[in-house]
Amino acid sequence: MHVTVVGSGYVGTTLAASLADLGHEVTAIDIDETVVETLNDGSAPIHEPGLDELVANHAGDRLTATTSYEAIPNSDLTFLAIQTPSNSDGSLDLDALAAATEMTGEALTNAPRGEGRDADDRHLVVVKSTVAPPALTELREALASGLGTHDVTAAADDSDGNAADRVELATNPEFLREGTAVTDFRDPDKVVFGTEAGWALDRLESLYEPLTAETDAPIVRTDPETAMMIKYANNAFLAAKISLVNDLGNVCKEFGLDAYEVMEAIGLDDRISERFLRSGVGWGGSCFPKDVSAIIAASREAGYDPALLNAAVEVNDHQPDRLLGLLDDHVDVADKRVAVLGLAFKPGTDDTRNSRAIPVIEGLLDRGAEVVGYDPVATANMRERFPDIEYAADAAEALTGATGALVVTDWDEFAALDEELETMAEPVVIDGRRAITRREGIVYEGLTW
Ligand code: UDX
Repeated sequence: MHVTVVGSGYVGTTLAASLADLGHEVTAIDIDETVVETLNDGSAPIHEPGLDELVANHAGDRLTATTSYEAIPNSDLTFLAIQTPSNSDGSLDLDALAAATEMTGEALTNAPRGEGRDADDRHLVVVKSTVAPPALTELREALASGLGTHDVTAAADDSDGNAADRVELATNPEFLREGTAVTDFRDPDKVVFGTEAGWALDRLESLYEPLTAETDAPIVRTDPETAMMIKYANNAFLAAKISLVNDLGNVCKEFGLDAYEVMEAIGLDDRISERFLRSGVGWGGSCFPKDVSAIIAASREAGYDPALLNAAVEVNDHQPDRLLGLLDDHVDVADKRVAVLGLAFKPGTDDTRNSRAIPVIEGLLDRGAEVVGYDPVATANMRERFPDIEYAADAAEALTGATGALVVTDWDEFAALDEELETMAEPVVIDGRRAITRREGIVYEGLTW
């Protein structure tokens, strides 16, 4: 099939390159000329393991990039993978996505009919960006406005040549994790198609057929709004699961118990499962914080304030304070050098968005500490946020002379730290991820153990 992907950020690039790898002809559209050039030169504009290789394999062949929307009418379907930044109340700023949706409509209306369309001249617009279900109404309106009509129906199974009847808006949420997005795409837990139009569903099924044929991933077929809610409920559930584990972990700590021993046992209950039970300094990244805030904001807008989701955020916001509180119990860090080990929001990525390291560093600076941060790959990104703190080339350098070390990301290499811990001025280690294995000869505190 011929596919257009509008937006070459994290999700769009992974999708475009992965669809090319499945055998489709993919045109990636982005307004940023540098991104377009990077893709056409055969490199990925973002860091994601395995992505550079996919782009290099298919660029100039099945994967091309452009700044023009002209490719849209000649493709079978268009994915919208445009950023939706958060407003201060957690709700999403849909301006860029709505503008891209409208431009997609315009491109479909204006362009001469080309090859590659089906006999009915239909086009499927698939929202890949995560938006709250009520926002789909706004996107349908944007599409209709671009098409020059005000009536993009939810289900138009027969075509009379009218632009609105031949264009359908569907959703197809993504569940990719950073650091494993390429392999997650190839081996998903589920694929979710949100459309009520038969022809649109057929088109999505054909698109994913090379993938669904090689995995046993179940396909969930539902309406566009429910598909988006599945995405939000999925992420909110996982984020709340970790917050519940952190809440219980804090209780364990107060009782002098080891939360990991407790969680290992409750994970044996297959209704709970052993995954996502790692308590500590909390969740960060681009998805959980943003998605939980967005679904809370959209729900409040609709008149319901979701108590448990609010609590999940509150627990998460509080975990860095608990970590700092444990440090305060042992040392006064004013004017002292303190090491922060791990700056990325999780291991395996250079992404520092909503990393728990941010509130931890802020808390240390508030205490007057001299902060030295270390991360194997995320230093450059954290430097943009905190240009004035010191960054070490390795963990050993960060620890040398430090009064206290806070572990924020569970990079594997921290498990091997041993003699390096002896070079600290005061070897007080507060571990927010259960990453450190050495205990002897140092003051060691686990956040929930
Ligand atoms: C997540 C979802 O897993 C993915 O399905 C969705 O599409 C995007 O959001 P990602 O943000 O890449 O993916 O990371 P993930 O591995 O899920 O971790 C999220 C955060 O939770 C990290 O900060 C991690 O450190 C934290 N976490 C995870 C815990 O604190 N404890 C755990 O047991 C698991």
